[in-house]
Amino acid sequence: MKNIDVYKAKFLENLEGRYTDKKPDNLYQPIEYILNLGGKRIRPVLVLISADLFADKSSEAIDAALAIEIFHNFSLVHDDIMDAAPLRRGKATVHEKWDINTGILSGDAMLITAYQLFENYPVEHFKPLAQLFSKTALEVCEGQQYDIDFETQTEVDIDAYIKMIEYKTAVLVGAALKMGAIIAGANQEQQTYIYEFGRLLGIAFQIKDDYLDVFGDESEFGKQLGGDIIENKKTYLYLKALEGKQKEQLQHLFSVTPLDPSAKIKTVKHIYEASGAAEATLKEIEKYTLMAFECLEKIELSDDRKAYLKNFGLNLMNRTF
Ligand code: IPE
Ligand code: IPE
Ligand code: MG
Ligand code: MG
Ligand code: MG
Repeated sequence: MKNIDVYKAKFLENLEGRYTDKKPDNLYQPIEYILNLGGKRIRPVLVLISADLFADKSSEAIDAALAIEIFHNFSLVHDDIMDAAPLRRGKATVHEKWDINTGILSGDAMLITAYQLFENYPVEHFKPLAQLFSKTALEVCEGQQYDIDFETQTEVDIDAYIKMIEYKTAVLVGAALKMGAIIAGANQEQQTYIYEFGRLLGIAFQIKDDYLDVFGDESEFGKQLGGDIIENKKTYLYLKALEGKQKEQLQHLFSVTPLDPSAKIKTVKHIYEASGAAEATLKEIEKYTLMAFECLEKIELSDDRKAYLKNFGLNLMNRTF
């Protein structure tokens, strides 16, 4: 197995220049912009890692890795419109830098390009890859709709929240790993286990993301802090804090959208800490990460390869951006 940075570099080499000089500018420049804003590149790296884990096939997995990252960036462009987010990776979001219509159409074009990349695979790989991709992309839409629905829904329970983040975020992490396994020719059972590992890790990843949205450092995290509080997102932090004494105050705060949100953010942050919700959230992130590690035990890989994946998971759990 190679170092994570080597996989990332290999991916970036193949991403470079893909959309430069394509016309019309107003369709392709926003795509070039968002794809080169940086980002952790977790999903494409997982595609490459998985292909190497099972059969040293990372070179064959490049197009799937590109498809996954382009799809992810498409979902962010549309997500930032839906969440009215001003910042992404420390820079202006596409709809802020251009406008909403540009974000919609450039996003559409990215989704289509992602699909097209699977056409480069022989039919025996094309079919399972395209099937997995379509299923996953539709689940992401379902998760995104639940996320929006929950903003105005008063009763949301933790199971519904977990299902929502499983769909909007975790299934893509699972799919990234499963694609690598498909390309490497791993059997169905191994494909299912590696998907499950990614799904569980993806749930931990999104809970951590919700935590960082409140308790992260804006310049490091690259997104507007308190964005979820402004948008009344029913996160794990919120749902746990509702179990505390300040339930009614919190519910009231999440029923209003003040023009200047700073006081609201400050109060909610305080409630998240005082209620013990912040701490409980960190525990939940650890719980899902450990569940992912348990699942790893079922996979037929050498101990050092399992340790490689565990290390990846621990880094995700402890990330600050
Ligand atoms: C952001 O994903 C959206 C979520 C699912 C939380 P990442 O945190 O992987 O974003 P980048 O690609 O590294 O910017
Ligand atoms: C993003 O969820 C999920 C998708 C883009 C599909 P969030 O809305 O929480 O992600 P951020 O916080 O904007 O990155
Ligand atoms: Mg968002
Ligand atoms: Mg969102
Ligand atoms: Mg978020």
